[in-house]
This record gives sequence, C-alpha cells and structure tokens, in this order.
Amino acid sequence: MVTKFLDKARKNKADEFYTQLPDIEAEMRHYREQFRDKVIFCNCDDPYESNFFKYFAMNFNFLGLKKLIAASYSDSPVAGQQLSLFDVKSLDVPNGDAKPPYKIEITEVRDENADGAVDLADVEYLLKNRRNTLTLLQGNGDFRSPECISLLQETDIVVTNPPFSLFREYVAQLVEYGKKFIILGNQNAITYKEVFRLIKENLIWLGMDNGGTKWFQVPLDYEITTESRKRFDDKGNKYFSMGSIMWFTNLDVPKRHESITLYKHYTPEEYPRYDNYDAIEVARVADIPYDYDGAMGVPVTFLDKYNPEQFEILGITKTWFGGATKIYPNQIQVNVDGSKSVVSKLNDGATIKLDAPPHGKTYYMVDNDYFIQLYARIIIKRKGSQL
Ligand SMILES: C[S@@+](CC[C@H](N)C(=O)[O-])C[C@H]1O[C@@H](n2cnc3c(N)ncnc32)[C@H](O)[C@@H]1O
Repeated sequence: MVTKFLDKARKNKADEFYTQLPDIEAEMRHYREQFRDKVIFCNCDDPYESNFFKYFAMNFNFLGLKKLIAASYSDSPVAGQQLSLFDVKSLDVPNGDAKPPYKIEITEVRDENADGAVDLADVEYLLKNRRNTLTLLQGNGDFRSPECISLLQETDIVVTNPPFSLFREYVAQLVEYGKKFIILGNQNAITYKEVFRLIKENLIWLGMDNGGTKWFQVPLDYEITTESRKRFDDKGNKYFSMGSIMWFTNLDVPKRHESITLYKHYTPEEYPRYDNYDAIEVARVADIPYDYDGAMGVPVTFLDKYNPEQFEILGITKTWFGGATKIYPNQIQVNVDGSKSVVSKLNDGATIKLDAPPHGKTYYMVDNDYFIQLYARIIIKRKGSQL
C-alpha cells in the first residue's frame, strides 16, 4: 500500500516539467489563422507557471482570440509556488488552503495599467483586479472532473503539455468531446494502441516542430540521472532536456501536404522481407523506394513526414493489431556476450530471418533458425503509382 502510494507520488512528480516559451512559439506560429475567434483552453496549466497561458495571454489580440481559459491542478507538487493567490483582490482563498486550484477566463486584454502597451503586465493587473477573471474551482482541477469537462465543452481548441502518465486518457477525452487540440507527448505514445488507432484513421497526426531535444523547467528536486540532460540558469532554475517529444494535433499543418521525395530504387537485396508479416524492411525514412507497391515497414519517425495523400498506414509492428502472420514458440535469446535465455518477445515486433548468427548483435533462435527483431515499425503502402 505504502509502495503504491510512493509510486503514485513518483509518477506525479515525473509529470512536472514545464514547456518553454520559445518551443511554444515555434509551434503555434503555424496555426495562427486557425486560432482566430476561438476559445482556447489550457487545461493542465497553472497560469502562473504555464508558458502556454502566457503565450495566449500575450498574443490574445494579435491572434484575435475569443476567450482564453486556463485551469490549475491542486495535486501538482509545484502549484501556487510563484503567484501569491492572496494578492488577488477578488479572490476568497479559504484559510489554510495554500494552493487551491483555480481557473482563469479572459475575454479581452486591454491596456489596463495605462502604460501605452498591451502586455503580460496588463494580464496580471486584470487577474488581480477584475472580478470573476480568476475564480477558485470546486474540485481539484483534474482535467476529467465535471467542472473541467464543462469548460472543455465550451472550448474550440485545447493547447497544452498534459501529464504524460495520463496521455492515453487525456487524448481519449479530447476525441470523445470532439475537440481540436495541439498537445505535447512522447514519441512512444505513437505506439500506444489507443493512440495509434487514431493516427491510422487520420484522426490525429504530428505537428510541425518535432526534431531534436527540448528543454523543460523542472522542480529543483526533479531527479535527472544524465548530467548532459541537466542545466541551471543564472537564477538557479533547473532544466531537463528531453528528446523525442512531439506535438500531436488534429488541426491542419502544412507538413501534412508535403510529399517525401523518393529517390531509391527497390531491390530485394537491399530491402529484406519480414518473416512474420508480408512487408519489406525500410530502415530509414529517406530510403523508402519510389517503385515498390507493397507494404513497407518504416521507423516511427516517418509520421513526422507523413502525407496521407502519398501513403496509407496499414498498421504498426509493436502492437500488431493481430496483424502478425506467425507466432514463434520456444524462442531463445542469445545476447552479445553469448548468454542465453528463454523469451517470448520475438512475437512483439517485425523479425528478419538470417542464414547465420549475426556478429555483435542480440539474436533469437527458434528451433535451428536465427532471427533478429527490429524496433517498432509503421507499416505503410504508397498510394497510387509515383512512377
Ligand atoms: C508535463 S506538465 C506540463 C505543465 C504545463 N502544461 C506546461 O506545459 O508547462 C503536466 C501538468 O499537468 C498537471 N496534471 C497532472 N495530472 C493532472 C490531472 N489529472 N488534471 C490536470 N492536470 C494534471 C501536472 O501537475 C503538471 O503541471
């Protein structure tokens, strides 16, 4: 019981990383026209911690927003550390409640402090002085709570970095309520059964700025084991760099209409066939042949270049959706150091059969045959002929 509680606390803590403004700006610029006259909801965002809230508040007039809503979550370990809610004149914070969850609803941003410019200082002035702009929530601000769902219902577009530990549920809720969204997630989420199904059906796809690593601000006690992924700024704030963080959206993006230029000619020698699915292995997206009409397995990074007019997605090897054509019994894994163990994981991905054991690579033996297993592959097929 205690372990379970600690595990939950650890998991909650791992969700506490905060997106930086430049990363938000780099993505949002591609959707400017789509924000006009829309209600935007940042539903995992303590406004005073969240750069999503800041971005939309600062650009409220420039983007022509109809309304901006942000809701904080009381169980966040860092909630309420930056803003003293007791400073907000119109807010009745119950005694002893150090970090009550609250929501912010903005329908206009004016030059409130009359300094000649409309900026974040005006938003702060507005929050602190205008009644009903900032109000306490009844519940804990959980995105699944009835009051947050009712805010969701009046929303056009949800934009945030949600808790990764609840990503499946989070996306399912957005889809259930038919909302448009731009959210950050881990590349691994592509392979989640629930998420991949939506990708395959062209209900969600990747946004624009998905390459490289992104730095996120984290609480000072956030555990980072790799030194090169950790840095502090001159104010002592701690940052964590994460790779493979991607934008997931169902708003139109330019990339989705650009085709990959294919230049490689198919030869059976260069593109081996899988043993457990009728497809060829394409190890790099750039190597997709222009003249192969059948199914091809490509790395999941393909999705960053996916144009549904150029390719059709047939499946994914990791979860398979019952697509594998073979089940291997009695597998023996042979590690690089020669050690052996009985496993069942060869069934979890695409395999290639070899004539002899490979050098310097983990491989598997099934009876007297040798196999290697590949990373998750998306199975695609070209649409129409490109010759
Ligand atoms: C990855 S962080 C990102 C925070 C912020 N959106 C940003 O991008 O800077 C996810 C946030 O979701 C909050 N959170 C966790 N579980 C939640 C839930 N069930 N409902 C709403 N927010 C939640 C966490 O406290 C955390 O602040």
